[in-house]
Amino acid sequence: MGTSTGIVSGKVRKDLSEISNKTNQNVNIPVMENRSNSRKKKIQRRNKKTMICPVQKLFDTCKKVFANAKSGIVPSLDNIDMLRSVLDEIKPEDVGVSPKMPYFRSKMNSRSPLVTYLHIYKCHRFSIGIFCLPPSGVIPLHNHPEMTVFSKLLFGTMHIKSYDWVADSPQPSSDTRLAKVKVDSEFTAPCDTSILYPTDGGNMHCFTAKTACAVLDVLGPPYSDPAGRHCTYYFDYPFSSFSVDGVAVAEEEKEGYEWLKEREEEPEDLTVMAMMYSGPTIKE
Ligand SMILES: [Fe+2]
Repeated sequence: MGTSTGIVSGKVRKDLSEISNKTNQNVNIPVMENRSNSRKKKIQRRNKKTMICPVQKLFDTCKKVFANAKSGIVPSLDNIDMLRSVLDEIKPEDVGVSPKMPYFRSKMNSRSPLVTYLHIYKCHRFSIGIFCLPPSGVIPLHNHPEMTVFSKLLFGTMHIKSYDWVADSPQPSSDTRLAKVKVDSEFTAPCDTSILYPTDGGNMHCFTAKTACAVLDVLGPPYSDPAGRHCTYYFDYPFSSFSVDGVAVAEEEKEGYEWLKEREEEPEDLTVMAMMYSGPTIKE
């Protein structure tokens, strides 16, 4: 795509310069105007040359923001704002996705519609990709250990439920912990980029597509089994499901707390198909 655009713009440049040379030879008065036009065109051409496509800008910003990314290291506030503002501006067409693509049509597997992940980039410091969910598609409740995650809903309506751990709370068993509900709402694009952190912002979340949805996800650092950042899935239970000594919540606040129990295996109802991203290219 980049190459063919370059060829077209090269041809246009040549034709314009030929026209302006001829005009200058034959007519006296318009010379100043032509010079001014030619200057404008030169500036336009320069701007065109230096214009960076949004996905490239996203990649370049991630390189800066996650330059020192490690488990549990949260980028500075300035860096978070910088990446958030880049993501806020990104539109579906900037990353080559549209609701008309086949990924957004329901293909039923055993239980729920197939979710597609379009891989854009991954290194040990960050990853960028797009989750494509058909209507009713679900990404079950999972965590993001020691990670900072930026999620931008590109189009569609999605229900998001997210939680953060309640620190130092007694547990009914080693695989079950108390969590506070952070978000339990529907979001419709265009909406602000959401950000979660290692210990707050809704580190565990579940996505349910109300319509076809695309979510651009930036993870820093990404999941890594060797580095101990495993993706764990959970079942959620109402607060009243377990009675644990030393854990008390006022009656009116009980809905804001749930128990999350680790799932031993990946959910059977989750099938994510990884595909290569085919939108505008990035240069490393
Ligand atoms: Fe997630």
